[in-house]
Formats: sequence, C-alpha cells, structure tokens
Amino acid sequence: MIVIAHLSDIHIDLDDGQRSIGRARAVMEYLEGLPYDLDAVLVTGDIADHGLPAEYEQARELLASRHPVLVCPGNHDERAAFRESLLGRPRSSAPVNQVHRAAGFTVALCDSSVPGKDEGFLEEETLAWLEDVLDATPSGVPVLVGFHHPPALLHSPFLDGIRQFGAERLADLVDRHPAAVVAFLAGHAHTPAATAFAGRPLLVAPGVVSTLRLPWEQRAHPEDHVHLDAPPALAFHVLDDAGRLTTHYRTVTAPAGSAWW
Ligand SMILES: [Fe+2]
Ligand SMILES: [Fe+2]
Repeated sequence: MIVIAHLSDIHIDLDDGQRSIGRARAVMEYLEGLPYDLDAVLVTGDIADHGLPAEYEQARELLASRHPVLVCPGNHDERAAFRESLLGRPRSSAPVNQVHRAAGFTVALCDSSVPGKDEGFLEEETLAWLEDVLDATPSGVPVLVGFHHPPALLHSPFLDGIRQFGAERLADLVDRHPAAVVAFLAGHAHTPAATAFAGRPLLVAPGVVSTLRLPWEQRAHPEDHVHLDAPPALAFHVLDDAGRLTTHYRTVTAPAGSAWW
C-alpha cells in the first residue's frame, strides 16, 4: 500500500502575522507525528504568496520532513526564486517540472503556471517532458500527474475563470498512454474537490491558508470568495496493490490553546 499526503496553497507570507506560517507548520507537524512513513508529501503550488526569496527560505524550513516532499509552482510563485531559494537549484525561468520515481509508483509534477497570470497552461516543453516521463515508465507502474491548476470546471465562476486552459492537449497526451496515468492531482481551488478529467479522477487538495467559499455559500456579496476561519486540511491518496486509488480528506486541528486566525 502506498500512502501519499497532498497539501496545497500554503501561501507563505512573512507579513500576515504568522497566519500562513502557523497553518503550514501545524499541517507539517501533524504529518511528522504520524506513526507511519509516508511514501511522499506533495505540495501542489502557491508556496510563496508573493514569490519572494525570503518566503521560499521560510517555506523550505517549514517543509523539511522525514517524508519525501515534492513541490510544484502555482500562480503566486516565481520560477527563478522557487528554484533557487526553495529547491536549491540554479535560477531559471523555464517551467519547473519534476518526476519522483519510487517503488511501485511515479509522480510527475508539472508546472502549470504562466508568469504574470493567475490562470494556468502547460507549455509545450512541459507536455513533451510529461510524454517522456510516461514513455520511460515501466508498464504496470501507476503514475500520478500533479499540477497547480485544475484542468476542469469546478462550478465556482471565480475559480473556473483562472483554471488550467488548453487542457485538451493534456487529455490527448494521456489518451496515448492509457495504462499509465491513474489520476490527476491539483491545488489552486482552496477546496477539497473530486471530479474527472480525461476519464480519470481529478482530485483537488484543500487550501492550507484559506478555503474557497462556493457560490451557494457566499452571503455577503458575490466577491466573498475566501473563508479564512475554516481549518487547514489535506488529502491522503492511497494506492493499493491492485492499483486502485482511494482518497481521504482530513482537517488539521489548531494547536492546543490557539485558534485559526
Ligand atoms: Fe492559492
Ligand atoms: Fe493558485
């Protein structure tokens, strides 16, 4: 059995009164305290709220773990600083695509960010990279494909307007490798959601820093998208020996004596 934790949208901001740091720390402490070695921890983007080197240095400290941690960028991230200050690699503005091959599974994390924009798109370079990853994966090894922007409508007009566009190119690519991809994993939506894309599950991680208010939850006015008091949460994706995927969603409680702020 393979167990993968999936969190997203920690939005580290050094000027928010420790809010984002406190939430990310609580989630990571929860994972560190589990009596189980996770196969991976995925963080699907919006790591730094402003894409600043100092935010990435803080995130690097917070995300240090005994479990293998993999991160991809979101629309709030900045590729060069993400590479240098979070990953410890040379600065470059090329897409940050990373593959993690472990016993019994592969994770391909794609960069769906578009510099300067909130919406997402997989560049040709990223699609070619993903095709190479799938080509090089032995048959029978399940691949989880992750990115920041969900490539499907989630029925929030705000969020749907900044989803991953051009997604039919991704669907075509995956259709050429029908056995390999078991699911798509995304963030960006700040709400736990499950739907389908290209005939496979599309599983969206909740937001750590905040939660999306759905249209039927918005009371004050139509722009009231963000729920700040909902607790941080994450997903656990479980792959069993038959290759079947099960996802659990879990909220993390505030440390004793404190509240989520
Ligand atoms: Fe976000
Ligand atoms: Fe985002």
